[in-house]
Amino acid sequence: MSPLDVTALRRDFPALHQEVNGKQLVYLDNAATSQKPRAVLDVLASYYQEDNANVHRGIHELSRRATVAYEEAREKVARFIGAADPAEVVWTRGTTESINLVANTWGLDVLKAGDEILLSVMEHHSNLVPWQILAQRTGARLRYIELDDEGKLLLDDLPQLLSDRTRLVAVSHISNALGTINPVKEIVAAAKRVGALVLLDGAQGVVHTKLDVQDLGADFYAFSGHKMCGPTGIGVLWARRELLEAMPPWQGGGDMIEFVERDTSTWAEVPHKFEAGTPNIAGAIGLGAAVDYLAAVGMDAIAAHERNLVTYAMERLAQIPGLRIYGPRDPVERSAVLSFTLGDAHPHDISTILDSEGIAVRAGHHCAQLVMKRFGLAATARASFYLYNTRAEADRLVEGLETVRSIFG
Ligand SMILES: Cc1ncc(COP(=O)(O)O)c(C=O)c1O
Repeated sequence: MSPLDVTALRRDFPALHQEVNGKQLVYLDNAATSQKPRAVLDVLASYYQEDNANVHRGIHELSRRATVAYEEAREKVARFIGAADPAEVVWTRGTTESINLVANTWGLDVLKAGDEILLSVMEHHSNLVPWQILAQRTGARLRYIELDDEGKLLLDDLPQLLSDRTRLVAVSHISNALGTINPVKEIVAAAKRVGALVLLDGAQGVVHTKLDVQDLGADFYAFSGHKMCGPTGIGVLWARRELLEAMPPWQGGGDMIEFVERDTSTWAEVPHKFEAGTPNIAGAIGLGAAVDYLAAVGMDAIAAHERNLVTYAMERLAQIPGLRIYGPRDPVERSAVLSFTLGDAHPHDISTILDSEGIAVRAGHHCAQLVMKRFGLAATARASFYLYNTRAEADRLVEGLETVRSIFG
């Protein structure tokens, strides 16, 4: 595997080359959203400048071009995630909408009082709240896999948590708040033993690892384009074709029907059955360009670069007195997210001081309030790395944190 030429690759990302508060920007908020390479920006501009038209419904040339590009993007994403069929790729607005789609179709159709959904305490709110709403509507019960002190799932509890009442196990592939990489194949195998379906929140998963949805063996995989070099407002729900075919539609409208009568309608084939209304055409095409970009760089090379960088950053941060990193201690068990606290400094103050040094990190509960509660915290600061980050930037983070320490004593 060839190492990344990060210097060359950084030239592809215009937003990285700017000063913030008089300092060269260090962008370490990638778990929230990534920067976009020129290949994605160019495809968005050329789509709107040359091909803009609505898809599927027009016979004219521009509509034909837009439709071809839009469906080609679906094929690219299907290849990128190892799907058996492009029809298994449903376009959504992002991870949140993908999970809500499953809750509102499969969930409302199948769940009844007494059924159980197994979640984990590590989940992002978008993989919690839709299930809470569904449980309130159906009488289903939510159960939780707890976390150990390193922020790893306590999988030894699975035999007590899973039973023939479990209809769904919904867990994250990689935690956005702790960086923990979950052993999802093990979870899938345990769920299958009791006949439960598995939904993986892949918002942080597909970004950092080479994904093969068929190999993982889950039933649903949800992710967002904007965290993987693509545009905002586009994401994917992947599910096995027969499952999608058995699920009722969610939103009704144009493009999702076959025939419409006064009182009833019949549905379009999957995936269109789940794509009512004018979709985010440019977004889908942009995500197609993003996966082309990531595939050309090489997901294995990206993962190796990130591991190297996070190992280095963890070693350096560990030398700062009073700094505590949450999540697995072994870099092999974590992705490129470093959640930390520094003495008594409030994470918002840490982030503000770093911002004055041109360093972008996030502070807050990271939409994972159950994680914060588990560790007795209100918030953490979070530095998250991606393919274009460097050791020099990790050094800038350490220098910035020394400034924080000098202010807070
Ligand atoms: C693990 C995880 N799940 C879900 C989401 C929600 O993604 P989106 O806001 O793109 O729908 C995020 C975003 O931060 C995330 O990190």
